[in-house]
Amino acid sequence: MSDELIFPCNFVIFGATGNLATKKLLPALYRLEEARRLPDGMNFMAQGRRDWDDDAWRSHVKTLLQEKLHDKYDEGVCERFNARFSYIRGELHDVELYRNIKADLGKPKMGAGSNVVFYLSIKPTDFQSVIKNLDLSGLSQPRGLHRMVVEKPFGEDIESAQALNRLLHEHFDEQQIFRIDHYLGKDTVQNLLVFRLANTLIEPLWNRNFIDHVQITVAETMGIENRADYYDKTGAMRDMLQNHLMQLLTVVAMEPPPVLDADALRDEKVKVLRSIRPISKRSVHAHAFRAQYAQGTINGEHVPGYQMESGVEPKSMTETYAAAKFYIDNWRWRGVPFYLRTGKRLAEAKSMVAIRFRHPPQQLFRSAPQDAISPNWIVLSIQPEESMRMEVHVKQPGLEMNTRVISLNASYRQEGEAQLDAYETLLLDVINGDRTLFIRFDEVEWAWRVVDPILKSWAQERDFIHTYRAGSWGPQEANRLFDSEDQEWRNYL
Ligand code: BG6
Repeated sequence: MSDELIFPCNFVIFGATGNLATKKLLPALYRLEEARRLPDGMNFMAQGRRDWDDDAWRSHVKTLLQEKLHDKYDEGVCERFNARFSYIRGELHDVELYRNIKADLGKPKMGAGSNVVFYLSIKPTDFQSVIKNLDLSGLSQPRGLHRMVVEKPFGEDIESAQALNRLLHEHFDEQQIFRIDHYLGKDTVQNLLVFRLANTLIEPLWNRNFIDHVQITVAETMGIENRADYYDKTGAMRDMLQNHLMQLLTVVAMEPPPVLDADALRDEKVKVLRSIRPISKRSVHAHAFRAQYAQGTINGEHVPGYQMESGVEPKSMTETYAAAKFYIDNWRWRGVPFYLRTGKRLAEAKSMVAIRFRHPPQQLFRSAPQDAISPNWIVLSIQPEESMRMEVHVKQPGLEMNTRVISLNASYRQEGEAQLDAYETLLLDVINGDRTLFIRFDEVEWAWRVVDPILKSWAQERDFIHTYRAGSWGPQEANRLFDSEDQEWRNYL
């Protein structure tokens, strides 16, 4: 968010050869290099388990950037970027690794005595070991100096999240901790706030008097790639819904904050989470739905079912699709259902927030039954299309007084405007110490409180899970969440 660099630092990436670093972090850091936003003298240390030296690492970076960026790849930028890196081999549970990191950070090249960002791009099960080892090797001292970036999911339920937070606080101050949820770094997610709070046209309609229900969809066509080890223990609820989708929900539903600073914004988000009606054990079935993909076809290609993916337990009951219905019991939203769904191997990659408005109090133009029941929608598409769409009724040209629905469409980005991934913004914020777009612990805690009863109930259903065909829009049975017959999932923009 902020423009100026104020924290010259070195940057240690734990898990630098993993999926997240490969897909998101390294390309984002490269783009910051390209935009000349990385300060002179800033260096990166990449930790991995592979038996590589600096050269092997650099050629790995080059290859992955070429594959990812195609014609946007620039050899000169890559060389500049690669020159900042050193590779450090070691096991996360081995304190020797951390002693070596400490020794390397002390070398003149790294700017002795400078600040360090530790980025935990690793499996949540390894967080504890890294935090303890940083401390044992003296890397968490002096307190208040270094920064620590923790990826989601933060814990696997409320108790483990609290334990992880306590552990972090034993060694780091809250100002040093950056709990990341990269959805908050997406331009189109930040645009939700601007759309709502900078337009007097919209804000008065944004409540229970006008809105029938809200749908939040994050659909992916990809499967679990090579992440079975992480995903099979995690599932769609913990991987996506508890964090990314809940964050989207808070941004859609929160009250305007008094100012746009980190705490004011997060206070409002917490109020939303605290107002979500708790789901009792008995009502889990009416409020949540899980399923797993079976084999099918994606983009013309046959893909295996989840249980056949390499590394997945043959009878795994892990969900790859999760849907939930929440009510926010406050003045603005009481009675308005928020339907959230996410899934892998769905028909299309599409993330959007769709708001359906109520019917007008009187149907004057009852020309055709269909028209009579088409309500207004506002659809804010987050990715891959970045757009805002409003569906309204107009008169059909002609002699009769018939109506039809048209959509007012606006593309979010204008031609030629660069499209950044969320990580560029967030990485700059870490460097600059701006925590506005990072998660405060009470947000994590309240989000777990909401989904924990669902996860507990699912954990008891050990021998059955619904399935859906890969390439479909998910299981029909998920429709049972809807409150009324005229509500259904909106799969198109
Ligand atoms: C990550 C999840 O947090 O978000 C992945 O662990 C998911 O499973 C990814 O694929 C989606 O992010 P994006 O930015 O590609 O929508």
